Amino acid sequence: MILVTGGAGFIGSNFILDWLATKGTPVVNLDKLTYAGNPANLAAAAKDDRYVFVKGDIGDREFVGKILREHKPRAVVNFAAESHVDRSIHGPDAFVQTNVVGTFNLLEEARAYWSNLKEPERSDFRFLHVSTDEVYGSLGSNDPAFTETTSYSPNSPYAASKAASDHLVRAYHHTYGLPVITTNCSNNYGPFQFPEKLIPLAIVNAARGKPVPVYGDGLNVRDWLYVGDHCAGVRLALNKGRVGETYNIGGNAEKTNLEVVQSICAILDELRPLEAAIHDSRFTIHGSKPITRHSSLVTLVKDRPGHDRRYAMDARKIERELGWRARERFETGLRKTVHWYLDHMDWVDSVTSGAYRDWVELNYADREMGNRK
Ligand code: NAD
Ligand code: TYD
Repeated sequence: MILVTGGAGFIGSNFILDWLATKGTPVVNLDKLTYAGNPANLAAAAKDDRYVFVKGDIGDREFVGKILREHKPRAVVNFAAESHVDRSIHGPDAFVQTNVVGTFNLLEEARAYWSNLKEPERSDFRFLHVSTDEVYGSLGSNDPAFTETTSYSPNSPYAASKAASDHLVRAYHHTYGLPVITTNCSNNYGPFQFPEKLIPLAIVNAARGKPVPVYGDGLNVRDWLYVGDHCAGVRLALNKGRVGETYNIGGNAEKTNLEVVQSICAILDELRPLEAAIHDSRFTIHGSKPITRHSSLVTLVKDRPGHDRRYAMDARKIERELGWRARERFETGLRKTVHWYLDHMDWVDSVTSGAYRDWVELNYADREMGNRK
């Protein structure tokens, strides 16, 4: 069996569902259930004998040690993290606590557990750490994409906390020989992503006739990776990756934020034409005439402080060494994602509690949501 941390979040829940469907071996999911963790994401696995959910914090060393000794996993896959850049700007403490101290605790307990294993379990054990392209900093428009040897230059508290955790993971291999593998991926999108991140936020807001906030000039570039492709890359790295190595995973789909939200609006125009909603008061903004195109909801707002301009991943190492490929094109992946959110508005409502509304107020209140693009 494998121990997955943070498996009730966006990528972790997709990973567990894919794992049970493709690999078939048991999974223990250790998750603190922060605002971003939702056991309902794993409803399809809940009755599966191969799936065990444990509520707990990777920062609680005693508990992590107990879980490792009890379940005896052959691998730990660490997704648990605070993951939203804007939240790290408003409150960095939790990022240092979970991403740095939590990963440290997990490494310490994994080291103690692994040291006591006998062969061949000891040699077969893996600690796979899931990280981000944001550790590499920001690219200029003509710079080559990030490779595994690009030096770290994290700019946000989130990126700095992930960089610190990556360094600890690397050091545990170098110093103690712990069999680690790190994957650094670009921006994921797909089902179950919490609607604080750009793509689900834009889909949900536009579908409900609310302004779609785009920071700054909207020309920041991200490299979008469909979550299923990311999960396949993590599985491959876990099973075939070389110990001590890092692998970059990217979607080869660089888009400006404006391109992303305009594409979402075009899909919504097709699936939910606004002519049908022309007398619906939700589709008027600030008392103006009803709108007929979702793109009219796109609103440029005050920029994020320290906003990285461009990320792009060079994924040739994992392609060459492990035979991984991004299979989903951005256009098809985005369409699937829009369909998923339109079909799961009850899920959106269940995860966006009062605490979510407080977050929206904190992050967007002073961003002047009225200036339409
Ligand atoms: P998410 O915020 O959706 O989920 C994080 C999960 O971790 C939640 O279920 C939460 O309850 C859990 N968690 C938080 N603190 C915990 C703790 N102390 N102990 C145990 N569980 C805890 O995040 P995500 O988007 O699924 O990202 C997963 C991982 O992938 C993170 O490490 C993130 O840095 C990395 N990553 C994400 C993206 C992306 O686009 N989403 C891109 C690159 C890297
Ligand atoms: P996000 O989904 O938060 O991921 P990250 O910051 O980790 O890349 O943001 C993706 C891009 O979208 C980023 O350039 C910030 C921008 N963005 C907006 O323009 N408006 C928003 O409301 C949000 C949440 C993000």
